[in-house]
Amino acid sequence: MAKIGIFDSGYGGLTILEAIRRELPQYDYLYLGDNARAPYGTHSFDVIYRYTLQAVKYLFEQDCALVILACNTASAKALRTIQQNDLPRINAERPAGHKVNVLGVIRPTVEAVPAMTKTGHVGVLATPATVSSESYVLELEKIASNLTISQQACPMWVPLIEAGEHNSSGADYFVEKYIREILSKDAQIDTLVLGCTHYPLLKEKIAQTAKNIGIIAQGDLVAKSLADYLSRHPEYREQLSLNASCTYLTTENADRFSQSASNFLAAEISAKHIDL
Ligand code: DGL
Repeated sequence: MAKIGIFDSGYGGLTILEAIRRELPQYDYLYLGDNARAPYGTHSFDVIYRYTLQAVKYLFEQDCALVILACNTASAKALRTIQQNDLPRINAERPAGHKVNVLGVIRPTVEAVPAMTKTGHVGVLATPATVSSESYVLELEKIASNLTISQQACPMWVPLIEAGEHNSSGADYFVEKYIREILSKDAQIDTLVLGCTHYPLLKEKIAQTAKNIGIIAQGDLVAKSLADYLSRHPEYREQLSLNASCTYLTTENADRFSQSASNFLAAEISAKHIDL
């Protein structure tokens, strides 16, 4: 029987995993953080695609029928190419009844935007790679052509969070800096999308700085979208085992991952090291 794989460049995907396990506790999950090569957000397309494909193939080899790219950078840069070029080849070699798929986090997130904004002015906060891909702008334009969208790359946020410095005064400085920059692009923004799975750890600081602005975080949106997807796709749902378990894998040191993961999860966990 198969598991659901959750992939992120590092710890950020744990915010998605937690929400998915709240919504769908019955399934078995395999979390993989490529911490040794994070952050992805400052790499080029080729590198992000190659790293993401390695991780996805690894998770398929570990019996994952579905892999969620719980990383906006990987979703923006690698999802479409994997779905169009790699999955058909991978599935052609698999027996009937054991087909696999990869899903991203951007589409479920943008679907929440039109109901949230009143001014129609929306800001997207993301890594440099996600911003340069324009994925949020393109996806938002597909579902609502009347929005004014501004983007802000926040290159310091992921390193601060990965270093456990998200409650520090350094984090205050960089939250204020990027919020000021995006609001100076458009003062009518009433909705900010946290387009990186690490950013929920800065949500309180962001809310204190961006007063009276709605903030969209992704966890619950991705979880609900996955529940809906599984209800419509028995070909994947019926492959999934139901032991309510979760295994954590990292390309970094396992003890280091286990300790830092407690910043993201309420529970203590124990991770295993793997090489990709
Ligand atoms: N958490 C990832 C995202 O959602 C990216 C972090 C990174 O730059 O590696 O974009």
